[in-house]
Amino acid sequence: MLNHVIESQQFTPEILLELFKRADELRVKTDLCLIGKILATLFYEPSTRTRLSFDSAMHKLGGRVISTENAKEFSSAIKGESLVDTIRIVSSYCDCIVLRHYDTGAALEASKVSKVPIINAGDGKGQHPTQALLDVYTIYREFERLENLKIAMVGDLASGRTVRSLCYLLGKFPGNKIIFVSPENLEMSDDIKEYLKKKNVEFVEETVLDKVLPDINIVYMTRIQKERISLQDYKKAKGKYVINQLNFQLIKKNSRIMHPLPHVEEIDLPIDVEQIDKRVAYFRQAENGLYIRMALLDLILNKENCFEESY
Ligand code: CP
Repeated sequence: MLNHVIESQQFTPEILLELFKRADELRVKTDLCLIGKILATLFYEPSTRTRLSFDSAMHKLGGRVISTENAKEFSSAIKGESLVDTIRIVSSYCDCIVLRHYDTGAALEASKVSKVPIINAGDGKGQHPTQALLDVYTIYREFERLENLKIAMVGDLASGRTVRSLCYLLGKFPGNKIIFVSPENLEMSDDIKEYLKKKNVEFVEETVLDKVLPDINIVYMTRIQKERISLQDYKKAKGKYVINQLNFQLIKKNSRIMHPLPHVEEIDLPIDVEQIDKRVAYFRQAENGLYIRMALLDLILNKENCFEESY
């Protein structure tokens, strides 16, 4: 069975802790455990962090990378080639494919025809499981636990694949409470709410961010995804939820602001505050992505049947 990474639910607490341990090791001591392996990064949507951190992770582990950063235009997709045909071909050139695609479900479809593991690097409004891995790794490093946390998820929760993937992982640990803060036109979808109910994870929906900020451990901000919603919905939501110098004061000293990045106007803090204040965790979060992706590549390329007992 190939070690595809399609959705965050497939990671058990045990696998997560194994990945965190390996990421911590690789942070301080590189291991050339992927010499001779080739990773293909196939991106049909823009990316800075995910693509470059996967590229860097592979290089640091001694492997090599083949890549197309704008597969929508610069691969044979532009000539009409289907994704499944592209995957059939590319999977015969490499040992693993990291795929970002604009269609929800694209990674799952790719996994059905691929000869090598597929890692979902974001599929439309679906999931972004490796972002969720780096998110929980960051939470674990900042709080030394993944349970009994109050997390506010803020912004465009309807289009946000990162918050969807993160909910699935937080649902695996007891005592967490999630506060969804979104414009009413961009609320978290019912499938996630159903999952949380099934897992007995408490959640509430709020509309006033400042009311929530004094009482949370983590505020997980997200961008309004202009590219995935109507102009009307965008105009209604833009600028509604912003962390600025004023409401930043409402956040407790030992709480954290996280964000999958890129951030635009929803974070309006001076650069020196972003640089110095411990509450700003999103740059550490992005850096953690490198180490957790190194650990993930090592796991799925060097161990068989990693996810056999998942779900
Ligand atoms: N968080 C994230 O996926 O960033 P990129 O779009 O830059 O990869």
